[in-house]
Order: sequence, then C-alpha cells, then structure tokens
Amino acid sequence: MASATEVSIIFFLVIVVFVEDCWSDPVPLPGDWPQQFHSVLFINRSGSLQKTDLWYDWPNGRNFNIIQHQLGVLKYDLEWDNGTSFYYTLDPFDKTCNVILFEVGILRPNWLHGANYLGQEYVDNFLCNVWEKVDFILYYEDVLTRTPVKWIFSSGMVAHVMTFEVGAVLEDENWQAPVYCFNETSGALLDSQDGGSSHGMLMREIPLSAYAK
Ligand SMILES: *[C@@H]1O[C@H](CO)[C@@H](O)[C@H](O)[C@H]1NC(C)=O
Ligand SMILES: *[C@@H]1O[C@H](CO)[C@@H](O)[C@H](O)[C@H]1NC(C)=O
Ligand SMILES: *[C@@H]1O[C@H](CO)[C@@H](O)[C@H](O)[C@H]1NC(C)=O
Repeated sequence: MASATEVSIIFFLVIVVFVEDCWSDPVPLPGDWPQQFHSVLFINRSGSLQKTDLWYDWPNGRNFNIIQHQLGVLKYDLEWDNGTSFYYTLDPFDKTCNVILFEVGILRPNWLHGANYLGQEYVDNFLCNVWEKVDFILYYEDVLTRTPVKWIFSSGMVAHVMTFEVGAVLEDENWQAPVYCFNETSGALLDSQDGGSSHGMLMREIPLSAYAK
C-alpha cells in the first residue's frame, strides 16, 4: 500500500515534469516563405557581386531572378513550376536565351521544413535564428520580425536580404520571355538541368532534394 508520502512524491514528480515541459522553449522553426514576395538581394559569389530582384509567386507557379552583375550584364532567370526555365538577356545586351528543363519546378513555400536549428547569432547587425538545411544552406532569420536576413550557400555564394516585401507581385506582362527564346533555329539552347550550381542561378544553388513536393 502506497503511503501518503509516496503518493505526494509521485505527485510532486509529475508536477515537475509537467512544469519543465511548459517552460523549456520549443526549438524555433523557420517561417514558411510567403506565397508571394519581392526581395532585393545583394549577392557575393566568390568576390563577384550582383544585385538580384527576386519575385517569388507560388500561386502562379513562377519565380523570377533579375540579376544585375556589378557594372555588367543584366540577366533574367524566369522559372516556371511546369519545369521550364528561361535564362536570357535583352537589348542593349546580346539577345541570348537558354531554355532549361528543371523538372522539379520552383521551390515550395515550406522548402525549409526539416532544417536543423543552430541557435542565435548576430549577422548583418540583426539578431537572427540560424538553421542549416542538409549541408547546402545556412539560413538566417531576424528574431523579431521573422524576415530572412542572410543566406550562405555551401557553394560559397552569400546573399544579403536588403528588402523583403510580402505580397508584392510583378505584373503579368513582365513574365513573358522574349520571342527568341521560342525560336530553336536562332540558337536558343535546350539544356537539361539536373541540379548543381550552373549558370550562377540563385535557386539552382539548391539541390533537387529540397524541391520535394
Ligand atoms: C566577397 O566575398 C569574398 C570571399 O569570397 C570576400 O573576400 C570579399 O570581401 C567579399 N566582398 C564583399 C563586398 O563583401
Ligand atoms: C511552362 O509554362 C511556360 C509559360 O506559360 C511555357 O512557356 C512553357 O512552354 C511551359 N513548359 C511546358 C513544359 O509546358
Ligand atoms: C527564327 O530564326 C530564323 C533564322 O535565324 C529567322 O529567319 C526567323 O525569322 C526567326 N523567327 C522568329 C520568330 O524570330
């Protein structure tokens, strides 16, 4: 027969376990990407600098990187979730276009799920929560606003988030690839893309496993 003391010890232990459970902070999770946003990124790729306008538009199945290389060429990387990406330049630069098949499409808003929490760190003067995703990205998110601040890809590419406008959408007419992307005889190449970091394309720094639907 349990004595009153034994019963109260057990009761006490149950309370302690319960209280500990409530008090210990849960491990923070990175926020899902908004369904639509515009972000200006400053990117350093082994010393070569670029400014990228990122237009993420998940409901319309499209993602756009407009890449200004420092004092250089302006490149357009237009990605459709059906697997077709157009990588082109416009007047006054050479009219080039590569059509790239990337069957996994664009990143899902929850592509950071499963990231490993590493703690907090000051980066770019913001106190951030830091996560690592399967050895390809370090992802920094502002603790207070939960806005992304900085991404470091294992390829060495570093992106600093300068603006992040949730809900901003680029008008439809800007999502039209130029006519020479559709003219196979004039030299648009049809590449098959199986991941990796070719073309210096931001989203293509991310391995295919991260695109799982
Ligand atoms: C860019 O990154 C390189 C290292 O890859 C570094 O030496 C350089 O200082 C960086 N440049 C800027 C402007 O941050
Ligand atoms: C994907 O969609 C784009 C834009 O509508 C289109 O130009 C392209 O041909 C489509 N690709 C496939 C494989 O259907
Ligand atoms: C496609 O390229 C060919 C050969 O360069 C050219 O004659 C034709 O006008 C082009 N068509 C379009 C739609 O640009």
